[in-house]
Amino acid sequence: MTAEIIDGKAFAGIVREKVAAHVARLQADHGIKPGLAVVLVGEDPASQVYVRNKGKQTVEVGMTSVEHRLPADTPQDALLTLIQELNTDPAIHGILCQLPLPDHLDEDLVINAIAPEKDVDGFHISNVGLLGTGQKSMVPCTPLGCLMLLRDRLGSLSGLNAVVVGRSNIVGKPMANLLLRDSCTVTIAHSRTRDIEALCRTADILVAAVGRPQMVTGDWIKPGATVIDVGINRIPAPEKGEGKTRLVGDVDFDSASAVAGAITPVPGGVGPMTIACLLANTVTACCRANGLPEPEGLTV
Ligand code: GUN
Repeated sequence: MTAEIIDGKAFAGIVREKVAAHVARLQADHGIKPGLAVVLVGEDPASQVYVRNKGKQTVEVGMTSVEHRLPADTPQDALLTLIQELNTDPAIHGILCQLPLPDHLDEDLVINAIAPEKDVDGFHISNVGLLGTGQKSMVPCTPLGCLMLLRDRLGSLSGLNAVVVGRSNIVGKPMANLLLRDSCTVTIAHSRTRDIEALCRTADILVAAVGRPQMVTGDWIKPGATVIDVGINRIPAPEKGEGKTRLVGDVDFDSASAVAGAITPVPGGVGPMTIACLLANTVTACCRANGLPEPEGLTV
């Protein structure tokens, strides 16, 4: 079997078009412009790239983008004060504090200082609790993007066996909650899981989110399964020349695509969906803040 490629790049473009259309309607009908504030502390190169892309795409869909770049030694109180200001700023509907934060800052404290209704990452403990109990919440962007791709390919997920490899707060745990809410039978696998290969072979839906390059190989996959690869890992690529690198996922694409029914590539799979869903969450937050109906198809 040769797997169908799930084109996350194209799907993300469709999500962004829907967001842009809704933003235009908010402006035309209500004079409201959604605003997203992104806070970056320090100079982590990968975070700088993410933040630049977020700002660019926010402006492209017609929303206001505000960036706060703070030095790596910013005291915790100063960061909390900034978050308080953003919490009460009526022009800001979404706040995202790029992770990881420098070691001297308490990540949980900072995340939980963001007003839950502006927490477009869905990381605030209130949103985690709401999602876990099946209530309306802000849904973390990467799992939201994965769910959109899965629903688009499979329709109803009810009764399917889903295995999520990885137990992070950002992807693994919220992904498992979303799949459970869609009536999958869900197992979370992690570094201590026994016979992880055999467990993965039971999965109709396999989500890999561990950050280990090409860990999941074709012999871990049930024939015909849908494979969602969340990993973005840079590995040496000597075939491209000395010192060159390339991006790979947590799934070994070549062996996996010979067995799976469908698979997301890296790059061009889940990655583009994350920012698209951030924009979707921002417009959703803006509608909720103004008591307006939420956009169709941009949240779950
Ligand atoms: N760092 C890596 N992924 C994310 C994300 O989804 N949100 C934030 N805030 N930081 C991240």
